[in-house]
Amino acid sequence: MRVPVIAGNWKMHKSVAESATFARELLPSIAAYESVERIVAPTFLALTAVAEAMRGSGVRVSAQDAHFEPQGAYTSQVSAAMLKGIASHAIVGHSECRAWLGETDERVNLKVKAALSSDLTPIVAVGENLQQYEASETFDVVGGQVRAALQDVEAADMCRVILAYEPVWAIGTGRNASAEIARNVIGDCVRATLAELYGAGISQQVRILYGGSVKPDNMSQYMAEQEIDGALVGGASLDVEDFTALVAIAAREKAAGSNS
Ligand code: PGA
Repeated sequence: MRVPVIAGNWKMHKSVAESATFARELLPSIAAYESVERIVAPTFLALTAVAEAMRGSGVRVSAQDAHFEPQGAYTSQVSAAMLKGIASHAIVGHSECRAWLGETDERVNLKVKAALSSDLTPIVAVGENLQQYEASETFDVVGGQVRAALQDVEAADMCRVILAYEPVWAIGTGRNASAEIARNVIGDCVRATLAELYGAGISQQVRILYGGSVKPDNMSQYMAEQEIDGALVGGASLDVEDFTALVAIAAREKAAGSNS
């Protein structure tokens, strides 16, 4: 069985002090849900403080990006190598980085490989924009992003990779993709592409999340889908009650699924 994942992407929210306080408030309410891999992704600046607050708990800390070069003249960037020992995961290829920072498929691939060689689990975000969605190009775009991100990634490393299908039109818009759309893209495109690249066995081991306006009131439908292994969450991860509710729903629905 694939362990469900709920990852909170705090984006550019919360100062260092606010992040640490929030982490200390969040921890007791999500600590008991050990059947779910719980991850929070604060800003680079707050990583150490949040890692300290979460130390010894099962809650993991993720960076929101990770540069592929170990060091160098890359103003504003932080390398995967520098994150080693501080974060356990790194989000790579988020659509906001693709849109605002000119992130390319090629760089996403370099970052995935750099993360893996620095013992970080990459959470690789893929997803089509509204225009591509309306032109029915979703499978081409998402399949292409998956192939590009995983180029030269060894089969043996795939159990350490998490993928997240995040349609750009659903991120921060309140317009979440239906569970049916998410299931179709995740199962028939993302997992099918993994099966082509690595075989059916490995494709069944990789966790694939949905992301885009996930909230407590729409979460159950995603978690009821066997193909969807969890969620990458922005807005609702900034609130202790909401994030806890998402973790609780994942724990409940996935336990129910494994019993049925
Ligand atoms: P959202 O963000 O939950 O606020 O839509 C999701 C994401 O960007 O990962």
